[in-house]
Amino acid sequence: MSMSELSSTQTTRKPNCQLPPGPRAYLLFALREVQQDPLSYLSQMWQEHGNLVRLPVIPGYTFYLAAHVNYAEHMLSTHQERYSKPDLFNKSMGLMVGQSILTSEGDFWLKHRRLMQPAFHQKYLENLSSVMVSCTESFLEEWEQKPDNRVIDIVPEMMRLTLKIVGLALFSKDISVESSTLGLAFREALEYVSYKMNNVWTEPLWMPTSRNLRFRRAKQILDRAVLDIINFRRHNPLNTHDLLSMLLAAQDEMTGEGMTNKQLQDEVITLLTAGHETVASALSWTWYLLGKHPNVAANMQDELQTVLNGSSPTIEKLPQLQYTRRIFDESMRLYPPSWGLPRVALEDDEIQDYFIPKGTIINIAQFIIHRHPEFWENPDQFDPDRFLPEKVNQRPKFAYFPFGAGQRICIGKSFALMEATIIMAFIFQRFHIELVSHQSVEPDATFTLRPKYGIKVKVRKKS
Ligand code: HEM
Repeated sequence: MSMSELSSTQTTRKPNCQLPPGPRAYLLFALREVQQDPLSYLSQMWQEHGNLVRLPVIPGYTFYLAAHVNYAEHMLSTHQERYSKPDLFNKSMGLMVGQSILTSEGDFWLKHRRLMQPAFHQKYLENLSSVMVSCTESFLEEWEQKPDNRVIDIVPEMMRLTLKIVGLALFSKDISVESSTLGLAFREALEYVSYKMNNVWTEPLWMPTSRNLRFRRAKQILDRAVLDIINFRRHNPLNTHDLLSMLLAAQDEMTGEGMTNKQLQDEVITLLTAGHETVASALSWTWYLLGKHPNVAANMQDELQTVLNGSSPTIEKLPQLQYTRRIFDESMRLYPPSWGLPRVALEDDEIQDYFIPKGTIINIAQFIIHRHPEFWENPDQFDPDRFLPEKVNQRPKFAYFPFGAGQRICIGKSFALMEATIIMAFIFQRFHIELVSHQSVEPDATFTLRPKYGIKVKVRKKS
């Protein structure tokens, strides 16, 4: 981030409003600490200063940490028109995905959101469930060929599976052959985006530093894969109603022009990125938590036995897999893939007598709110029954928002929940997943909250 990308916070404050508390020292002096472990640093700030913390970055520029349901509700829902995603996010993420539904604002965003929304409607999703089932089945056939008790890192395996599913479901293209090269390229590119977002000064992309060169190589690999998908379809029109056919058919109401190759490329790479990394991270944490809690795993086994009895988790059966779904919900409470939502105040605002000057960049901290003791008893404990309907109804809505909220709520929410339930049920029916002991498992807060050193598990076929 450059100085010019940070917005100035020097505006007038109303007399009844005070600035929120926060440390006196500039964040710049704690940069190494913040970069190494942003979650611990921000949690410490919250513990020391409260639910809204003012963190001065450099003279004249501040950043706020918002860690309470009231702030989340205000900024994402009731007063969402006063906030947008900051340039810092849109530009850094834009290096990887260009200008797309994820990184744009205003009319451009609305047009693309409206264009894509139908591809995620329930009736299309129902068709996609069979793609998810067959993808998972063929993925597990590979696992079945391998010897029992082999040790694998479950994180890249989940990435490979979810990439295969999103490619086939949205673009009717199996990209699993190249998935390990693509997986590495996604990881490299996302790490670069996080680096750009979390550093005050970074070298411009044109400079031939090793970091820049690695990113440029990764971006080239991703662009090539995405252009292959688009070109393949331009030359082989399919009679399907997947997302790509909707994008290809889209025409501007005024000019009648279709999307350019560059616009298509940006949207396809966005959907591939947002649609695989998030689900894969959440599933990886789910396997970890199931490994740590054999009693929960046993309950899940009972549910699968009763509902499926060895059959495939098809769309009709999914509503009955309620315990499985609660496990996934609870896993995203403890390890929300999107750990903090970035926003910028578009105008001076106030919340509960705290002043938020125009231009302030805010992190709405899901990872703190999801464990906030005001709303969660024994917040660090893994307990899927927190998501029993009667318990959900007792909590404020914004105590839990893994998919965001308001107009920018995740477009792929129902897709992700359906996919995760299918994958969990399939794998759990067919394999024992046992955690390898004495390994260090730690969250790494980059684009998603993924396990820093992976998660090693021993895989064995169930008889
Ligand atoms: C467990 C899985 C997922 C989680 C936790 C998740 C989380 C989120 C969150 C929190 C946002 C809002 C960000 C903000 O307001 O700043 C978001 C937006 C988005 N997500 Fe997801 N997501 C998941 C899966 C997916 C999938 C499967 C897709 C597509 C297939 C997808 C596509 C998108 C897109 C395109 C946006 C931008 C929407 C907009 O700004 O209009 N996500 N996601």
